[in-house]
Amino acid sequence: MLSTIMKCTPAVCAVKDEYQIMIPVNASAVMWIKVGGKTFYDESNGILRSDTDIHRITVPMSVLDHAKEYTVYWREVFERKPYSPVLGETQDQTFVFRPMKSDTVRAYMISDTHGMYEQPIAAAEKFLELYGEIDLLILNGDILSNSGDSANFILYYRIIEKLTGGEIPVIISRGNHDLRGKCAEKLCEYMPVEHGNSYYTIRMGNIWAILLDLGEDKEDEHKEYNGTICCHAFRERETEFFENVVKNEKNEYNAEGVEHRIVISHVPFTRCDMAPDAKESPLFKKWVELLNDQIDPEFVLSGHTHWQYIAYPGGKYDGYGMKFPTVVGALVDRENPYFAGCGIIWSHDGIRIVFNDGDRVLEETVLGENKS
Ligand SMILES: [Fe+2]
Repeated sequence: MLSTIMKCTPAVCAVKDEYQIMIPVNASAVMWIKVGGKTFYDESNGILRSDTDIHRITVPMSVLDHAKEYTVYWREVFERKPYSPVLGETQDQTFVFRPMKSDTVRAYMISDTHGMYEQPIAAAEKFLELYGEIDLLILNGDILSNSGDSANFILYYRIIEKLTGGEIPVIISRGNHDLRGKCAEKLCEYMPVEHGNSYYTIRMGNIWAILLDLGEDKEDEHKEYNGTICCHAFRERETEFFENVVKNEKNEYNAEGVEHRIVISHVPFTRCDMAPDAKESPLFKKWVELLNDQIDPEFVLSGHTHWQYIAYPGGKYDGYGMKFPTVVGALVDRENPYFAGCGIIWSHDGIRIVFNDGDRVLEETVLGENKS
């Protein structure tokens, strides 16, 4: 049974070669994790953090993958006085962990649920029932309809709890609706980030991924934002990061053991009509060129359109001459709550893409077959 200090089970979020273990809590507490005899703290320059409703404890992937379990420790903080603060006894709870496999890998992507819970859970559970347990959960943005209240963020973690129990890795990507509301500026406290950035690379098992974040879906000057965003500057900074990933001599996407390279992006930036305005198109063209020329990904995984499809090179949704498919994996009806998600199975037979809802499979295809 989950301890009452935790709002839900930890979320083991993959970032670079680390897991950021996110733990939403009900009370002020200091917290740390022990893995394989090593201790990792939620700290700020040597100070254990307690003035927060979500803890983040970073653990090297190699350590947790090897140990296959982690123990969360905490002491509730009753009064953090400058001298002799008052804390409760040390308590702990252990979670098992199943690292990524290297043969058949199953992942499930949920995005654009806009506050729905039962429908995406039902879809993921139907996939589990039909295809077997998943090794990775991907939440690809717009799980919320807005970030007007920090309490909204808990939905990400409730979905993760239900589908992972803190026992498998998860990737969380930001959607454009997540940028809206007075708490959006605090997203980096509530989501995994690398040095505060919502874009980063991930190396997990034999999969290498780059998580790209288009930000808002309209021009910065749009009246909906009324002067509160600067996504153009953000995207320029992100493009610089992307170029550095390619320039880096380490060539992390070609490292030993990498067998699959994927791109995760809430918005399918490979479509011309997804650019917030015409002046942003050159940036996305650049992203596609970097992918074409340097990274050669298996596919881009997106949501945002509320419609499921697979776009192939040269098709009507190929805006910039991509040499790889784009899988758009969430079918959503917000008016009559309905959700269908996307399963991905990497095996010796290729990459199988499954679109399904809580009742049935809508489409199943091996990537590259039946191109249309
Ligand atoms: Fe969206």
